[in-house]
Amino acid sequence: MASFFRRQIAIKLAKTLQQSEEAFLPALTAVPVFKKQHQSSDFKLSLGPLRVNGILPSSGDILLQTEDLASRLKPDSVVESISTGHGVINFTVNRSLLAEKLLEPFGKGKDDQFELNSELFNSLKRGTTLVEYSSPNIAKKFHAGHLRSTIIGNFISNLKQSLGNNVIRMNYLGDWGMQFGLLGAGFNQFGCMEKLKENPLQHLFEVYVKVNKEAELNTDIKQAARDFFRQLEGHESQALSLWQQFREITVKEYQQVYKRLGVHFDVYSGESFHQDQAQEVLQELRSRGLLKTSEKGTGVVDLSPKADMTNICTILRSDGTTLYITRDIAAAIDRKEKHCFDEMIYVTDKSQENHFNQLFQILQALGHSWAQSCRHVPFGLVQGMKTRTGDVVFLEDVLDEARARMLHNMTQSNNTKELENPEDTAEKVGIGALIVQDFKGPLQSDYKFDWDRMLQAQGDTGVFLQYTHARLCSLMQKNEGAEAPTFNPFVLREQTSIVILQHLLRYDEVLYQSANDLQPKHLVNFLLKLCHLVASAHRELPVKGSPQDVAQARLRLFSGARSVLDNGMRILGITPVSKM
Ligand code: ARG
Repeated sequence: MASFFRRQIAIKLAKTLQQSEEAFLPALTAVPVFKKQHQSSDFKLSLGPLRVNGILPSSGDILLQTEDLASRLKPDSVVESISTGHGVINFTVNRSLLAEKLLEPFGKGKDDQFELNSELFNSLKRGTTLVEYSSPNIAKKFHAGHLRSTIIGNFISNLKQSLGNNVIRMNYLGDWGMQFGLLGAGFNQFGCMEKLKENPLQHLFEVYVKVNKEAELNTDIKQAARDFFRQLEGHESQALSLWQQFREITVKEYQQVYKRLGVHFDVYSGESFHQDQAQEVLQELRSRGLLKTSEKGTGVVDLSPKADMTNICTILRSDGTTLYITRDIAAAIDRKEKHCFDEMIYVTDKSQENHFNQLFQILQALGHSWAQSCRHVPFGLVQGMKTRTGDVVFLEDVLDEARARMLHNMTQSNNTKELENPEDTAEKVGIGALIVQDFKGPLQSDYKFDWDRMLQAQGDTGVFLQYTHARLCSLMQKNEGAEAPTFNPFVLREQTSIVILQHLLRYDEVLYQSANDLQPKHLVNFLLKLCHLVASAHRELPVKGSPQDVAQARLRLFSGARSVLDNGMRILGITPVSKM
């Protein structure tokens, strides 16, 4: 595996320069396949960082220094050749050893653990990670932002879990606030229990839209809404029981849809849980002298560095009610107490960046130094997420549309296999396409939602990932029984095999990158590249008709590629299909 080679090269460097091996590991990386012209070297050592870190003298000509160091390193049985580039030293490892070490784990039934124990991850902190994502609002639209939050949060949770963290997946519902006054009042007027049971999300949304329209013209409704919310805040049983029904039914519905997406939560919390605690937060701020009264009569915290009220955060309305941020402060403190997390990650669109900065600052001001281990992962806007029937209101609509369109494409294609459950396959492929479209670029970027482009079978799409996976499965199936527990690594000599091996060398680095910046694009692009390489291998490395040892070695290579694709897709939140 990659660690083995990195370690061997580091030992060589350490001996030559009389330093510790550890010093060289961070500067040693596998060479990305797409950048190679001659495809010869596998690893490179960048001298720049070593000079910055004082491991090499930082004065003098870096090119001369590179040449000098390279000439002092001698090839051996692991490193076969050493060459230099611009400020880098390139290493080529023994070809048989490369194949043997990389493909060894795939014969042992530990395919799903490939590289997860790489020593690269030793520097990452492990512990309990709380990831909060999805977090839709009851009775309101489930917009593209919620879908992005759902799939990104799921990816972060999967990745953290794969790397050995204990992950708590939390959904923080928008289940409190003035809108429930409106909803309650609206339901009393236009609601219908049967409809609520039959199609709860739809019905609640209808009532909500209707009552909002009505409230614009009708002051009685506004008064009724205020009354209802006051009853709720006062825990009056009738109001509370209606609200509770809204919440329970909504959660049940959502659970169904999340299941289709392959997403689950350990905790369904929500703003409502932190009503009383928000009052305690206010008390605490008051007693620390942090709660100021603004000219408008609202309660604010002054976050300006010079304490001149140039940057304030409102946490109490003039009528004494709390706000979104007040509940978030209380919720964070409560989560720390209940779940003892080592880090907490919030996933929302970038418009909430300021909100989370303020939240973390206020937590700090309250003496909670663990606020430093809280992180907001912001993402950009999605434009034009529409279905055939119009704007997306419910998550279910997007999933239905993805499935229907994919099913249509599958029936049009003459490559499609006879399937037991074509809907199920179309759903998994469709969702994979949605995820890949979303994860290809930096999360902060906005993008335009495009059904046709994301569902293309060729090109860098989720469909291409699924198609490659299915094709690899079919190859394995056709050759069932031909695989052997051992294989002869010596026969994997063609350039086509070697580039796949070289590409696999990067898998742990790619996971490491994603774990650091929490961006899925590294992994997505790695898998897409892998699929392109596999496509060439399908053409150039036949299994059938090859001598037995060649056939076995090639099968091992394909089986390794399939496993890595499978593992990577699952981290992204895509369920691989074995036939399509
Ligand atoms: N419900 C909110 C919304 O739809 C998102 C909640 C994000 N999480 C938080 N802790 N504030 O905008």
